[in-house]
Amino acid sequence: MGGTLDYDEAEARQEAVIYRTPAATARRERVRKMLGLESGDEVASIGCGPGFEPAEIGWAVGKEGQVYGIDRSEAMLALARERCGPLSQVTLSRGDALDLPMADESVDAAVAVQVFEYLEAVDTAVAELARILRPGGSAVVCDADFASLVWRSPNPERMARVLDAFDDHCQHPRLGSRLAPQLHGAGLTVSRVEPNAIVNTQLDEDTFAAHLMTFIEDYAADHGAIGPKAARAWADDLREQDARGETFFSFTQYCYLVRKPA
Ligand SMILES: C[S@@+](CC[C@H](N)C(=O)[O-])C[C@H]1O[C@@H](n2cnc3c(N)ncnc32)[C@H](O)[C@@H]1O
Repeated sequence: MGGTLDYDEAEARQEAVIYRTPAATARRERVRKMLGLESGDEVASIGCGPGFEPAEIGWAVGKEGQVYGIDRSEAMLALARERCGPLSQVTLSRGDALDLPMADESVDAAVAVQVFEYLEAVDTAVAELARILRPGGSAVVCDADFASLVWRSPNPERMARVLDAFDDHCQHPRLGSRLAPQLHGAGLTVSRVEPNAIVNTQLDEDTFAAHLMTFIEDYAADHGAIGPKAARAWADDLREQDARGETFFSFTQYCYLVRKPA
């Protein structure tokens, strides 16, 4: 998640935990399969986060390949360096998705997963992605539409208020359903869109729902429209519901496979 996405070291470490969940691992696998990466490919990981994404792409492209992990957060890059250290094919640099530190037409493939929804100028980020891809190259851009969040609660009215406030945590909480025109506008062809649905029926520690609940509780506690008391009550509703075996959580991220015409 990441709120403003300006992390200190502790926040980056806390967020990195979510990338170990089975849901996050499965999403990265889906993205790699969509791209059909081959040994020797050169790939950009835009907004590479704590390094799971560039490390796993590095294994997929092998020692003959190259992965360029770019992130604007020094705290995230520090974690990525720990994770990717042994992989000589991975290069990590500080940089901005809006002004990528890469030459025109320099990569075969790129990924931008849960990054563009946090940016004000999505059109600039998409243009940058198109610029660095070689003709014939592919990319996967994956963003959520928070309207896809179906989360059972014994107090639906409070749930609706909290989710409404949580929409403020990123610039474009509906981007997942609105990306196609922006991608076309940059001259990219959308080959297909895969929904990456995460469904949890319990709040166990390794579930995406449990992590999102903690994140939203903290966020809502500081939000003027909610505050700490209502945020706590919202999370308590969910914990009590879980103790009754009634959890239902479903959230969809949309993964766009795009191609730059040859
Ligand atoms: C939600 S995380 C996703 C990490 C990774 N793509 C993954 O799915 O495993 C978003 C990442 O994008 C980075 N980010 C946000 N804005 C950025 C920008 N303008 N340029 C580069 N990175 C950015 C954040 O620092 C964070 O590491």
